[in-house]
Amino acid sequence: MDGGNHSVVSEFVFLGLTHSWEIQFLLLVFSSVLYVASMTGNILIVFSVTTDPLLHSPMYFLLANLSFIDLGACSVTSPKMICDLFRRRKVISFGGCITQIFFIHVIGGVEMVLLIGMAFDRYVAICKPLHYLTVMSPRMCILFLAAAWGLSISHSLSQLAFLVNLPFCGPNVLDSFYCDLPQLLRLACTDTSRLQFIVLVNNGFICFGSFFMLFISYVFILFTVWKHSSGRSSKALSTLSAHITVVLLFFGPIMFIYTWPYPSSQMDKFLALSDAVVIPFLNPVIYTFWNKEMKVAIKRIFRSLVIFRQIS
Ligand SMILES: *[C@@H]1O[C@H](CO)[C@@H](O)[C@H](O)[C@H]1NC(C)=O
Repeated sequence: MDGGNHSVVSEFVFLGLTHSWEIQFLLLVFSSVLYVASMTGNILIVFSVTTDPLLHSPMYFLLANLSFIDLGACSVTSPKMICDLFRRRKVISFGGCITQIFFIHVIGGVEMVLLIGMAFDRYVAICKPLHYLTVMSPRMCILFLAAAWGLSISHSLSQLAFLVNLPFCGPNVLDSFYCDLPQLLRLACTDTSRLQFIVLVNNGFICFGSFFMLFISYVFILFTVWKHSSGRSSKALSTLSAHITVVLLFFGPIMFIYTWPYPSSQMDKFLALSDAVVIPFLNPVIYTFWNKEMKVAIKRIFRSLVIFRQIS
């Protein structure tokens, strides 16, 4: 035995989402369309926020960063899932599996901190409007970004540290379409029930903690808007409803996957699919359709593209 490293499994096999040919075909169409749409929508948001001086404000910088991370979110699991749909043997190497876990947790973490940053931004803008410019300074934005990346990368690495010394010698079949810790820990050929519990508590705590913070801040904001109902409040309400919808859609599936005590893998798979392909697509749709400035900015980009083509 060399250095306690007795892993013999070098690749994992996914069972995939379903065996039904019709559902696979539907999934192929649905996921490919959503993937292309998410990439386009999110690139458009990043591009318009970075190029349009009218959108250089903390709210839009955070939104552009969310779109940037969404580009990663839809690329971690879904392209491989789409390519695998019609393969009989869906395999992923050990390294590929670890890479997926690493990025899933980094991206999930960054997304959560950014949503908290966006809620904080709205809280200051609506409840403390006179202090907005001093509180949400460029330094504050950078601080949020640094916290988002720093916390998420360290969280993800600490999760992977659990895996490093585990032996994988036996079955290598994952009833899923991507790698994540809970399923992988169940495959180790040693008792991992304590580790599984730690992972569950760790992730559950992070999800529920962030969700709770977001919930409280939106209650505060809604209360303030309701108390000072004025002309400004309908615009504030439409922005808020966009944020709240994204938060509910993002956290709903994750909280279910990580904390529902009865694993029903079919349900888990479809919820995971929702976080992998639907949410990255919904973010731009929700934020753009409920936001006039964003729509105007995107129209301006299209117009300048047309002019550019006429000139050249
Ligand atoms: C993220 O936010 C920072 C700081 O506010 C900003 O400078 C940067 O352009 C944003 N990143 C993207 C991809 O929009």
